Amino acid sequence: MVQGAINQNTKLTKSWQQNYVDDWVKFYSKHTKEGELASYIPLLKQADKNHLGISIMGINGVTIESGDVGIPFTIQSISKVFTFIVACMERGVSYVLNRVDVEPTGEAFNSIMHLEMKKLKKPFNPFVNAGAITVTSLLNGKTSDEKLEPLFRLLEDILKYRPVLNVDIFKSESETSVRNRAIGYYLVETGYLESKLELTLETYFKQCSIEISLQDLAHLGMILANDGEDPKTQIEIIPRQVARLAKSLMLTCGMYDASGKFAAYVGIPAKSGVSGGIVAVAPPRARHEDLPFLEGCGIGVYGPALDKQGNSIAGIKLLRHIAKQWDLSIF
Ligand code: DON
Repeated sequence: MVQGAINQNTKLTKSWQQNYVDDWVKFYSKHTKEGELASYIPLLKQADKNHLGISIMGINGVTIESGDVGIPFTIQSISKVFTFIVACMERGVSYVLNRVDVEPTGEAFNSIMHLEMKKLKKPFNPFVNAGAITVTSLLNGKTSDEKLEPLFRLLEDILKYRPVLNVDIFKSESETSVRNRAIGYYLVETGYLESKLELTLETYFKQCSIEISLQDLAHLGMILANDGEDPKTQIEIIPRQVARLAKSLMLTCGMYDASGKFAAYVGIPAKSGVSGGIVAVAPPRARHEDLPFLEGCGIGVYGPALDKQGNSIAGIKLLRHIAKQWDLSIF
């Protein structure tokens, strides 16, 4: 009786935005069946491919969540955004951009082909594996834990808790990742790595294995939407210039060889990971209509069933729908 009354009450206080998001998540959940779990990292196969969840965090403090929101997952390639940010903060933007370019590849995230094809052999961008491994090699420190300490500190400054490493996923990737080793050896030959290959790869596998939640993704996206500043404290956590550079790369390279389509149909910076997470960033919009999150927001999506490019299949469809309904596009 009492429980029923509480549920009734909760229902009454649900916002219209929340009701819409609940419906959209339910609707797009069926598309999870069209995707596949990542299998080249054996432990990622243990995820439930039916899961789909979303968390939206506004710069104004409003949050909306729906679907499978309570499942921890590893950050995977989304970490590349934050190691790039940390490397720029440690070494300076021009130093980092001397070693990694800012051009989309139009190739798969783990492609090695474009390294051979380009005259200078400089990795195309920090979000394909070749570029990300190069950036990781630039991090200061003599051990992988030392190298990752500033990344953990940055995440802690944003999330207000210190995320942990999923050691099983880390081991699962480092025991099997022959492709990343091949890319690594190639980078040694071209002279772009600034740390020993084994140390660099260990650091890279660890950064990919940091465990986070959907709420964390939304929070990370919200700080980027606000150009690196925490709206509650007005503290600049990421320098504005670096936050903007990271967002421009997310827009052009964040979804790998689907980045063009994502920019055309969703229209906001985003970065995916092979465990099924996507962080998306909707900056403030200058509109006068009654649209949600006009002040900007971060969006986290989790759906481990992936499309051929390695992006969450239902997650992209859900983001596309929300961006259209709420006019989130930056264009
Ligand atoms: O390098 C790898 O294979 C992974 N640890 C990260 C790749 C990834 O998340 C690609 N994203 N869609």
